[in-house]
Amino acid sequence: MAANIGKSYTFALHSIFIDTYFTLFNKMGYTKEIEKRKTFAIISHPDAGKTTLTEKLLLFGGAIQTAGAVKNNKIKKTATSDFMEIEKQRGISVATSVMAFEYLGKKINILDTPGHKDFAEDTYRTLTAVDSVILIIDCANGVEAQTKRLMEVCRMRNTPVIIFINKMDREGRDAFDLLDELEDLLKINVRPLSWPIGIGATFKGVYSIHNNHLNLFSASKTKISDDLIEIESLEDPELNNLIGDAATDTLKEELELVEGVYDEFSKEEYLKGNLAPVFFGSALNNFGVQELLEAFLEIAPTPLGRDTDAGFVEPEDKDFSGFIFKIHANLDPKHRDRIAFLRIVSGKFERNKFYEHSRLDKKIKFPNPTSFMAQDKSVIDEAFPGDVVGLYDSGNFKIGDSLTEGTSFAFKGIPSFSPEIFMELENKDPMKSKQLEKGIKQLTDEGVAQLFVQQPGNRKIVGTVGQLQFDVIKYRLQHEYGAKCDFAPRRFFKACWMTSDDKSAIEKFVKAKAAYIAMDKDDNHVFLAETQFLLQMAQQDYPDITFHFTSDFKVGMN
Ligand code: G4P
Repeated sequence: MAANIGKSYTFALHSIFIDTYFTLFNKMGYTKEIEKRKTFAIISHPDAGKTTLTEKLLLFGGAIQTAGAVKNNKIKKTATSDFMEIEKQRGISVATSVMAFEYLGKKINILDTPGHKDFAEDTYRTLTAVDSVILIIDCANGVEAQTKRLMEVCRMRNTPVIIFINKMDREGRDAFDLLDELEDLLKINVRPLSWPIGIGATFKGVYSIHNNHLNLFSASKTKISDDLIEIESLEDPELNNLIGDAATDTLKEELELVEGVYDEFSKEEYLKGNLAPVFFGSALNNFGVQELLEAFLEIAPTPLGRDTDAGFVEPEDKDFSGFIFKIHANLDPKHRDRIAFLRIVSGKFERNKFYEHSRLDKKIKFPNPTSFMAQDKSVIDEAFPGDVVGLYDSGNFKIGDSLTEGTSFAFKGIPSFSPEIFMELENKDPMKSKQLEKGIKQLTDEGVAQLFVQQPGNRKIVGTVGQLQFDVIKYRLQHEYGAKCDFAPRRFFKACWMTSDDKSAIEKFVKAKAAYIAMDKDDNHVFLAETQFLLQMAQQDYPDITFHFTSDFKVGMN
């Protein structure tokens, strides 16, 4: 008997040991997976060099072999109604929505954002799924319209930003001027970590302040990595030999100024989104790209947690959770296929495991989750925080939906922004009303545009940030749903979401302004203000109501 007790005691101890060992082992493996990952986006005003830099990074990581592979993904700047181009773009962009590659033991996920300004809303949403960004500035143009708007979105979530000043091989503006402009217009502190030696015709290369390297410029579209020359200090005579006395003197003077004007680089401030390190280079010539990539690997955050209606979720949390930030629908009109893009926030995502769809309150499993490695799609068995997985969907998802394991909760912060152009949808074929209804609902679920419904009469106001979207909607409604429509302009200045501590204040407002009230996709009241003046009047007359230009109410007016 005693011997038996002893045996089972030893057995129990043994099992506890094995359990603990496996939990610990799994946890270590899991933490390693998280620490391996960096998920980011490259953003810029069109033409600053986003496509070129993306391609160079992929070439670097060995993810693509030839230049031009990413370039084909771009909508031509001239395309206003080139539908074939749009269709081609939709097809290719599924493959290039996420471009993952491994470099020096890290898994890097680049999330693609459309450059065309009419697709800006898509870019803003994608930014909710990344943990940091690289912002490209054209050295001749400095901060441009789209740069400012993209930075506003980054600031909303304190996204860490690295700035790459591109096209240094061309004539451009003075580096100090550019840095001043970045601080003034983007409202972020900057800290150069490399410094250009000349510009355009006199461009000799870049000096790395970060680790005393000299990188001499050579114009070459085919070279892969930089030739970094180690310099002991600015007093190293090798520097004079390499770039000449005059350039050395200027470099020393400028670097002295840099040290005097800018604070030391602080990784902590960068991670809080307060300070942007700045690099100079030429993406086309693959110059300064290696340095940028290596600094990125060193400082960019590993996958971050996200806020939910049930508290903050950390990537290390055991249970899986994630959210949908992008949907591609009807790529093949014969099969109503949709791919929903899921960003994993915590836990391990597994194929064929049931997860909670929080909004629908139902359990769903996914037999064919897809990962994207550069240009290849493949079915995966598991994925980790920071990863983006494509889920085949038969209409269950809307942008912003959450998937969770165990308890059900919803992620915050996939805002809709006030559209800038509004049109009323007119049905041109009464026999196809049902198709039109279904089509416009699905296209707006996909995020092509926003839909506001006004009563009486169920009038549908479609809002977008660009004219091109209306052409896309009309074309897709006809080709994918067999419905015919037209658009009649409606002159609204902004769509405003409303909050108030006093519920009756909103009820009173909605009654008084019935003609200008509509419901958004989540059944929130929206005030369609005709002019800025009328919005100001409403703000004055109803001081208990706060009017928001985004549906993410925490953010407030901007
Ligand atoms: P985008 O995705 O941000 O819109 O920009 P993209 O990379 O397409 O670059 C826009 C243009 O700028 C391209 O020229 C590209 O070759 C050029 N470019 C990018 N980086 C550099 C650089 O470091 N130096 C110089 N000199 N040019 C650069 P394009 O004529 O519009 O297109 P392509 O004919 O070269 O394809």
